[in-house]
Amino acid sequence: MDSPLVFRGTVIHSLHLTQLEILEDATLIINADGRIAAFQKSSARGTPELRIPAGAKVHQLPPGDFLIPGFVDTHNHAPQWPMRGLGQGLHILDWLDQVTFPVEARFSDASYARTTYGQCVGDFLRHGITTASYYGSRHAEATRILADVCHEKGQRAFVGKCNMDRNAPEYIREESAAASLRETDECVRYIRGLSGRGGGETRGGEQRQEALVQPILTPRFAISCTPELLKGLGEMMERDDTLAMQTHFNEAEQEIRATRELFPGYESEADLYEAFGLLGRRSVLAHCTIMTDYDKARLAALRCGVAHCPVANMTVGGGFMVAPVRDFLRRGIKVGLGTDSGGGWASQMLAVMRQAMIASNARAVMGGAGDDDDDNEAPLSLEEVFYLATLGGAGVLCLEDQIGNFEVGKQFDAVWVTTSNTSLRPVMTPREEGDSLKTTFEKFVMTGDDRNMAHVYVRGRRVAGAGE
Ligand code: GUN
Ligand code: FE
Repeated sequence: MDSPLVFRGTVIHSLHLTQLEILEDATLIINADGRIAAFQKSSARGTPELRIPAGAKVHQLPPGDFLIPGFVDTHNHAPQWPMRGLGQGLHILDWLDQVTFPVEARFSDASYARTTYGQCVGDFLRHGITTASYYGSRHAEATRILADVCHEKGQRAFVGKCNMDRNAPEYIREESAAASLRETDECVRYIRGLSGRGGGETRGGEQRQEALVQPILTPRFAISCTPELLKGLGEMMERDDTLAMQTHFNEAEQEIRATRELFPGYESEADLYEAFGLLGRRSVLAHCTIMTDYDKARLAALRCGVAHCPVANMTVGGGFMVAPVRDFLRRGIKVGLGTDSGGGWASQMLAVMRQAMIASNARAVMGGAGDDDDDNEAPLSLEEVFYLATLGGAGVLCLEDQIGNFEVGKQFDAVWVTTSNTSLRPVMTPREEGDSLKTTFEKFVMTGDDRNMAHVYVRGRRVAGAGE
């Protein structure tokens, strides 16, 4: 981005879980470094004129179009992108063996990784995912390629080499804990080095920005890691408290049973991962569907974040699982949404938001209307799932002071949603005369898709979009 940007028109973003702000006539000014310099919420008479920076490109959004913050995908397996939708109904360990591992093994081939990751990152950007937390495969080279691709295409991302030194077929298992740790360390250093290389991380002596692509430790789950490997990863986190970590947590019955057998000393997965030094505010725990009160209390105390993946939970892994999201929120546990591409079939955060509403509805109904804790189980509203997909996800990744809404000082990661450009042949419920902004927004969230995403911006730079 070379020149400042100005947007005038409708802006929609979350202030809190239940507080969606819809501004019809706002002005946003974005500095050349991609930060939000000013945000005037109305141009009603009497509001002081905003000073438009010299050389700024000014965009007036037509009626029916609006800006929203980019989506944050807190759980995504990049190498599973080419197998989304396969193996529905299989239990988790069988699905890994039969469907997933053979696909991930292909990423030993660097040229396959480059082509596939290029398509994969392009796809998620097109669907408005401006930030993603990616599991790579176990391959260090392919993982570096994934980080390169995010850096080149301008997606904000966490990228982790998957650790798995046991309980996987030989063709994909790492040789040893020591090799896994060494390669992980090399990947972390490589990814950190990216921010110094082009890509506009620093501009003309301006204040240094946080790197767009960051490393994340990625032990697949306890089943696929020896105690020695988990211990080594925990030590890496202890040495460097800026390192994030992600794993699968209490996902399914089959997984929980196998974990207990491998680690008979631990009744609780929270205790297990904590004992290896892996839990803290930068830990992103995917799924969390079968949770005891004790585990929930530990996650709250340790300030871990939950990546809720309702599409995957209801189709792959073991039955029909619904995480207790309402209870997490009540306890102050950070929650975001994840596509879980490829356990989840969708690249679209919009699909995940819709499924989060369906899942919470199922939980509310199955929990038994009339119970004392009825309020506790109220289904998630449209406002709430939108928050989870944006500001909530930012919190899970400890980026809430950088992205997630349009507060002044944050970076401009955004989607320009169009409902006015019918040449894009949208399938969204049509906007009609007299629709309120809230109705238009609701139609988009429930029925829109990437054809409504005219422009996708990360840090003020246009990185994707269906529009001209
Ligand atoms: N548990 C361990 N690996 C995986 C994976 O790739 N996907 C899901 N959904 N669960 C897992
Ligand atoms: Fe997953």
